[in-house]
Amino acid sequence: MSTIDYDPFDAAVRKDPLPFYRSLREESPCHYLEPYDAWALSRFQDIWDASNDSDTYSAAKGTTPAQCLTKDQPVTPMLNVMDPPAHTKLRSVIRGCFLPRHLRSLEPAIRSWTEGYVDDVLERGHGDVVGEIGARLSVRVACAAIGLPEEDGPMLVEWVQRFFHHDPGQEGMTPEGMNALTELTAYCREQAERCRAADDDGPQGLPSLCRFEWDGRSFTLDEIGSHATMLVIGGSETFPKTLANGILRLAQHPDQRAALVRDPAGIPAAYDEILRYDMPTQFLCRTLRRDTELHGQKMREGQAVMFLYASANRDPREFERPDEFNVARRAPRMLSFGAGTHACLGTHVARAEGRVTLETILDRMPDYEVDLAGAERFETEFVQGFSKLPIRFG
Ligand code: HEM
Repeated sequence: MSTIDYDPFDAAVRKDPLPFYRSLREESPCHYLEPYDAWALSRFQDIWDASNDSDTYSAAKGTTPAQCLTKDQPVTPMLNVMDPPAHTKLRSVIRGCFLPRHLRSLEPAIRSWTEGYVDDVLERGHGDVVGEIGARLSVRVACAAIGLPEEDGPMLVEWVQRFFHHDPGQEGMTPEGMNALTELTAYCREQAERCRAADDDGPQGLPSLCRFEWDGRSFTLDEIGSHATMLVIGGSETFPKTLANGILRLAQHPDQRAALVRDPAGIPAAYDEILRYDMPTQFLCRTLRRDTELHGQKMREGQAVMFLYASANRDPREFERPDEFNVARRAPRMLSFGAGTHACLGTHVARAEGRVTLETILDRMPDYEVDLAGAERFETEFVQGFSKLPIRFG
């Protein structure tokens, strides 16, 4: 029996989960958490294999800590909580709007929006990387990919921020977060109604959902609203935090920043290293469809299993000197976008956003300074990262 005292909701874990992950990987790679009747997987290869095994690991009972551990968030119809074969079919339909060839037409817009946001910050000499650059860009791109009116962007940013907001000490889903989710879902349902009435045959997410058929029927408006909500949250929430992490890490490693300023061709690999080093989503969960065994532990059908992605990305079995930030690293694989059945559909979108924002910031304000005293962070069991990261320039 392991003596590691790991509970994702503990204040010490929320403050700094990495030492706990290290102990878990070394001493208890398949670790039982009694209060939640759940298991935590912390090694890279184990999570990689489990992510590719949807016969054993199901997403249908939810994937967030509030769905699988505290069980206070209901499971609503969304792509990420479906299992094959329905998942496979819907995923192949939604995938179309996130493919590189669709994205190429979006790239000039991504660049000009980014330049506009960075120019706003330049003019003032200071600004917030999360709210004024990352969130504005990712929501605008998500609206374009999903097919939502661009002018609704600021309202969507607010809903997504309320959904994730936690006061210190608050566990699981907050009432405010639940309200934000309800409002966002109602909005997406209205948009679905508009899309259906207009008989929109566009290539974006929303029209694809409206056209989707399974088991001889189309989705109801409620179902479309729920799926579109997932796309809004998935498409807009994580990117701003990864951008802020990158801006901070490059400021802390001036030699690496200077190398990228001199040779921006290294920026795509640098963004991957940023994603690996500071993964915001600490873990997602699955539920066992059948009994199975791992590292001598017998896991039973119905129990939840946590995939500790942020731990896997620091596993020395997979990465040489994993605790070293090195933009010249060329890791052949990582788990920042998940893997297997539910691997992120927005990978190309996120990487394009990362490349363009870093290129623009390093080009226009290469000597920016980070104001850590003015920064604000999420330190929740689920998401870690900046909710605000001020920078100064000039
Ligand atoms: C840096 C930004 C992003 C990160 C780190 C990220 C990470 C992830 C991860 C880890 C998963 C796996 C979920 C699981 O294991 O249950 C996932 C799934 C997903 N992501 Fe992303 N994501 C990002 C951006 C995006 C964007 C921009 C979009 C869309 C515009 C998007 C859409 C999705 C979708 C639809 C899924 C569910 C796929 C499925 O269930 O088949 N993501 N993402």
